[in-house]
Amino acid sequence: MAEVGTAGVQHPPIHSFVHHRSRLTEGQQHAWERWWQTRGRDVEDLLSGAEPFDPPAWFGRTAPLVLEIGSGMGESTAALAAAAPDVDHLAVEVFEPGLAQLLMRLAEADLTNVALLRGDAVALLRQCVPPASLIAIRVFFPDPWPKRRHRKRRLVQPDFAALAASRLEPGGTLHMATDWDDYAVQMREVCDGEPLLENTASGEPDGWTPRPEWRPVTKFEQRAVHEGRAVHDLVYRRLSTEPPSGHRA
Ligand SMILES: C[S@@+](CC[C@H](N)C(=O)[O-])C[C@H]1O[C@@H](n2cnc3c(N)ncnc32)[C@H](O)[C@@H]1O
Repeated sequence: MAEVGTAGVQHPPIHSFVHHRSRLTEGQQHAWERWWQTRGRDVEDLLSGAEPFDPPAWFGRTAPLVLEIGSGMGESTAALAAAAPDVDHLAVEVFEPGLAQLLMRLAEADLTNVALLRGDAVALLRQCVPPASLIAIRVFFPDPWPKRRHRKRRLVQPDFAALAASRLEPGGTLHMATDWDDYAVQMREVCDGEPLLENTASGEPDGWTPRPEWRPVTKFEQRAVHEGRAVHDLVYRRLSTEPPSGHRA
């Protein structure tokens, strides 16, 4: 969808991802052919209304719902879904080999509490996910867009924080992790500025959430540790108060 700028001119939307067409490995291709039809959905179909956004129908039950933005190769998704069988998980990703890898992991571990969504998580949140319907949103190692001229592509911006907060139920959490110091600081500033969110680590001396042991280590964290970069976790809780009138989102 195009966005209308200040002069009324239509600009293409700015995305937090680059969509590379990548080849699937043989195993991934096999998993895709076998399971995508039943486990996967295209965000475009949900946005157009060709298919309803209907997690209870997808999972065959009504359960607390977690949405992960950028599930990558699916290590965290599969591990955390296995650890929480009573919770349903939506893994949103644009990278097909990652989604296919997650299909393989789900089959291996016999997990039925994950649905895969291919496409832009921001559009999905804005247009399909009802307000106050998620117990958690996870954003682990979002693309850092380190060059200054690319910073506008970073996912965690004020509009995103307002949107994410609005889709969380009161008490629900927005959990982010990054190995880029300046992005971690940006996340703090952005989320501290969102009236519907509060930092769950405000009691910590430095205000960062201690790394939760239950968050699996993915290759992004391994590389950061290997290269001597610190990893920051941030967990914000959705407050129950309504935002003041005229607020974003
Ligand atoms: C650096 S990777 C991290 C993957 C994974 N969370 C991990 O920790 O290993 C970031 C991923 O987010 C995905 N991504 C970025 N913006 C997205 C968006 N708006 N919607 C869906 N996926 C997105 C990218 O395709 C990429 O696979």
